[in-house]
Amino acid sequence: MKIPHFSLRKKIILSFLLVILLGGIITLILGSRLIRNTLISQAQDKVKHDLSSAWMVFNERVSDIKEFVSLTSERKRLEDSLKNKDYVPISECLNQLRKKYRLDILNVTDPKGVVIIRTRNPGQTGDNQSQDEIIKKALSKEVTASPQIISRELLLREGKELADKAAIEIKPTPKAAKSSKNKETSGMILKAASPILDEDNNLLGVLYGGVLINRNYEIVDRVKEMVYKGEQYKGHETGTATIFLNDLRISTNVKNKDDLRAIGTRVSEKVSDAVLKNGKSYIDRAFVVNNWYITAYEPIKNLENQIIGILYVGMLEKPYIDIAHKVMITFTFMASMLVILLLVLLYFSTNRIIDPLLKIVEATQKIASGDLSHKVEVTSTDEIGYLAESFNKMTDDLDAANKKLLEWGKTLEKKVEERTKELREMQAHLIQSEKLASLGKLAAGVAHEINNPLAGILIYSHLILEDIDKDTPYYDNLRKIVKETTRCKEIVKGLLEFARPKEPETNLVNINDVVEKALSIMETKTLFQNITIKKKYFSSLPKITADSAQLQQVFINIIINAAEAMEGNGSLTIKTGIDRDKKTIYIHFRDTGPGIPEDVKNRLFEPFFTTKEVGKGTGLGLAISYSFIRKHNGTIEVQSKAGEGSTFIVKLPVKNESKKD
Ligand SMILES: Nc1ncnc2c1ncn2[C@@H]1O[C@H](COP(=O)(O)OP(=O)(O)OP(=O)(O)O)[C@@H](O)[C@H]1O
Ligand SMILES: [Mg+2]
Repeated sequence: MKIPHFSLRKKIILSFLLVILLGGIITLILGSRLIRNTLISQAQDKVKHDLSSAWMVFNERVSDIKEFVSLTSERKRLEDSLKNKDYVPISECLNQLRKKYRLDILNVTDPKGVVIIRTRNPGQTGDNQSQDEIIKKALSKEVTASPQIISRELLLREGKELADKAAIEIKPTPKAAKSSKNKETSGMILKAASPILDEDNNLLGVLYGGVLINRNYEIVDRVKEMVYKGEQYKGHETGTATIFLNDLRISTNVKNKDDLRAIGTRVSEKVSDAVLKNGKSYIDRAFVVNNWYITAYEPIKNLENQIIGILYVGMLEKPYIDIAHKVMITFTFMASMLVILLLVLLYFSTNRIIDPLLKIVEATQKIASGDLSHKVEVTSTDEIGYLAESFNKMTDDLDAANKKLLEWGKTLEKKVEERTKELREMQAHLIQSEKLASLGKLAAGVAHEINNPLAGILIYSHLILEDIDKDTPYYDNLRKIVKETTRCKEIVKGLLEFARPKEPETNLVNINDVVEKALSIMETKTLFQNITIKKKYFSSLPKITADSAQLQQVFINIIINAAEAMEGNGSLTIKTGIDRDKKTIYIHFRDTGPGIPEDVKNRLFEPFFTTKEVGKGTGLGLAISYSFIRKHNGTIEVQSKAGEGSTFIVKLPVKNESKKD
């Protein structure tokens, strides 16, 4: 069987493959986005939470300073030394405390805000701090703490080394907002101030202290430690925290390429706009220094609620991306496995559909090549099974029709053969009949001419025979003349009867009676003495219009022929009857004689055809009988086989209209 280039199997598999692959790809794309988004949004939730923790650490530190300043301001010794204006011993003591509690600044002012003790730089006093918002609050007897930006000038008062610690070179950052500044000299401090009061609640001065955030990593590292527990991912810190002075990193644990803290770099313009300009939180992924982070930024405000910086926490995005990748790889692997499994299933299920179809196609080809016995072996109970069943039924029907057609063809052939044979016979018969007709005319002419002289001869020879004595030597010869002449006369009579048959003189006759009469004439003859005659007459035979004399002659001739054929020994069965359609009467004459050979049978009705020895038969009996029966519109049939006896069947129409031919 020739399989087409783009077979149905290929089409089904390819279309399913297309659907599966398309479905797979869409699922993968959507799945990857979903996984990524879910993970990122989870990470963002976490980073938001982490930022709260960072604020906690940040505010805790502010509270610590505030508490320290507040507690210290209540010291009796401080009160006393202020009252006594004896600043040196207390200055030393405060300096010790400052160092102990890791403060960068710890100063005392008088009730007007003029610095009287500067623990870090005792030589530098006398400057007025009353304009400072935090100190202003303390002067009005309020304990206050807040982040604050402090200028280099003020820092220098605390000592050059602190001012230099605060000063940071600004490194160019591609995404940062444009700025002409290349150095930041201000610092951010967490500052607290507390009033120093005597027993009567009179203000003796203000104690204020603070921690410089620039290059101070205490808070950011604590955030990292507390929130991220120092986790690392592939050599990178997982969690990072930063404090910005405006947009500049002044305290961070984000590392740069050289694995140093990325101090001096600036936040991107996008974040700066959102947080510094608009005062909003910014939570999104961001490229921080040299890695992508999931970040959260919130503004740091001073006491006057002005934005002075940013607190930031960020988680390395890579672990999440890697998880997403891993999930995606697993997901892709599983999806691929599923596709392969589906393809295998598809292959088998396609086979289950295609194979029966191929069987049907194969069957159609076999049937087309003529093998109608081929059957499609499909046992499934679905539409294909039904198709195969219908197909098999169709081939069965086709086979049956074909066989019928062949049979019909054969029958037709046989019929054509039979008809051709009949036609040939009829043609031969016709030629014979024509010949006979002309011969009959000739014979009748001759017979007519010799009939009268013969009559004369017979009369005169009879007269002479009557006149002469029996002893006369001519008597025997004369008797022979009379006998032979009589025979000649009979022949001539027969000839005339055959050639110029008389028109039947019809009456209503009972055929049984005619047969019986013919028999009664013959039965007495010696030839019939040893012949058993069986009569089977049909009693209610209708009368027909016929010439009883002619019919009687026909029957006598047939009966004599039978007796002669049986040579006087045997049985003759005579049966009369009527056909089912009541249109034809038949008379059967069945003898037990030797039968008629085929060559004789063909010539039975020819005039002068006889098998009897010369002088015994004229061969006109059946010829005359035939012409009589034809005149009655009847037929004579012969059924006989050599050795099996013969049956002559005379058939006569019940309603007869005599033929005029
Ligand atoms: N019942 C029969 N059995 C066998 N042969 C028969 C039978 N009837 C007729 N024939 C054959 O048919 C021939 C022709 O018969 P038909 O009656 O025409 O002539 P015939 O009997 O020979 O002579 P005729 O009747 O003139 O005396 C017979 O010679 C005989 O051979
Ligand atoms: Mg005869």
